[in-house]
Amino acid sequence: MGTQRLKVVLGRDDSYDIRVGEGLFDRLGAHLREVTEAKKAVIVTDSNVAPHYLGQVRSALAQEGFEPFDLTVAAGEASKGLAVAAELWDALALLGIGRDGLLVALGGGVIGDLAGFVASTYMRGIDFVQLPTSLLAMVDSSVGGKTALNLDGGKNLVGTFKQPAYVTADLKALGTLPAEEWGNGFAEIAKSAFVDGGEFLSWLDGHADALAAQDGGAVQQAVVRSLAFKARIVASDEKEKGVRECLNYGHTFGHALEAVSGYRIPHGRAVAEGMRFAARLAVEAARAPAALADAQDALLDRLGLGPVTEPFAADDLYGLMLSDKKVRNGGLRFVLLASPGAWEAVAVDPDLVKIYLILWEQARMGKRQEEL
Ligand SMILES: NC(=O)c1ccc[n+]([C@@H]2O[C@H](COP(=O)([O-])OP(=O)(O)OC[C@H]3O[C@@H](n4cnc5c(N)ncnc54)[C@H](O)[C@@H]3O)[C@@H](O)[C@H]2O)c1
Repeated sequence: MGTQRLKVVLGRDDSYDIRVGEGLFDRLGAHLREVTEAKKAVIVTDSNVAPHYLGQVRSALAQEGFEPFDLTVAAGEASKGLAVAAELWDALALLGIGRDGLLVALGGGVIGDLAGFVASTYMRGIDFVQLPTSLLAMVDSSVGGKTALNLDGGKNLVGTFKQPAYVTADLKALGTLPAEEWGNGFAEIAKSAFVDGGEFLSWLDGHADALAAQDGGAVQQAVVRSLAFKARIVASDEKEKGVRECLNYGHTFGHALEAVSGYRIPHGRAVAEGMRFAARLAVEAARAPAALADAQDALLDRLGLGPVTEPFAADDLYGLMLSDKKVRNGGLRFVLLASPGAWEAVAVDPDLVKIYLILWEQARMGKRQEEL
């Protein structure tokens, strides 16, 4: 399959291109020359990604006359904080990067969020581009312009909106992605397919097994379809004032579950469980048919995103949901689907949420008892 191109169409001159294909890092310099006149380009990457792709990206930039620099941070969520951002600001200043410099985010969602934040704040904003290397970053975080840092008080509490000038997903990079990281991308693909419904969902239903087996063609299609969906949503609501909220499907419960497990449950499994929870809540709160929850369960299972069986306490989950960013005026907001593609963001009666959380916990306690 050849390279596929998409565009995120935004107002002013903020629109940008996305390329998805194999071996794109080799041609990166030429593609970047189409979007920037920068001379100095600073690659921000992490300690897992650097050994595989930093050299390749550096030489692709040098070939087109960029003066490349690189800054490598420790791999992992802990780097997405103010201390590392401050180190990067200082390093940019020491390298003499001016307003006309370019930041190149090479890595997963952590690097994208961190480098995007630094690019949006250094000298009140310099251009940056996204080279996502994890499946999650390719299908979701590299597009849309949300940047973020974590605080001790919670994840993603500080951030800006800063659209990249260009995004390129080189699918070859997935060749070194650890097996346990794939599920995080699969969950966001499934989320997007259910929220979009229609053709995307029927495609996923027909290709879930190929995707789970990491078949190259299926992976490329999944990336392109997910990004086309996200690009459409972002184009109509750049700053999350309305429809962009649909991208939070599965995340209200998912974030609470990640947190209550002390981040032992990976993001993808937590979001998938959040989708299962939302589908059950939707039977009562959005008149969804119970069959939708069953169909969604089956698809998530095929993607290797089986149900979470650990019985976390309903009270703890409820408390964490209340402290999440998605709380408005004390009400708990959920994205619910009446059917695939027909979503609404609703404030659900807290008592109803509590009942469903207790049912969720009890179902798992029951399973535990049976096992004993
Ligand atoms: N801005 C947004 O819209 C948005 C959306 C979703 C998630 N996020 C953020 O994204 C982050 C999660 O992203 P992630 O799952 O990519 O995590 P990550 O960046 O930590 O990457 C996961 C792991 O895989 C490694 N890795 C990445 N690509 C690799 C490759 N090709 N080969 C070998 N190793 C590789 C990384 O070093 C890391 O250890 C979270 O911080 C989350 O908040 C942001």
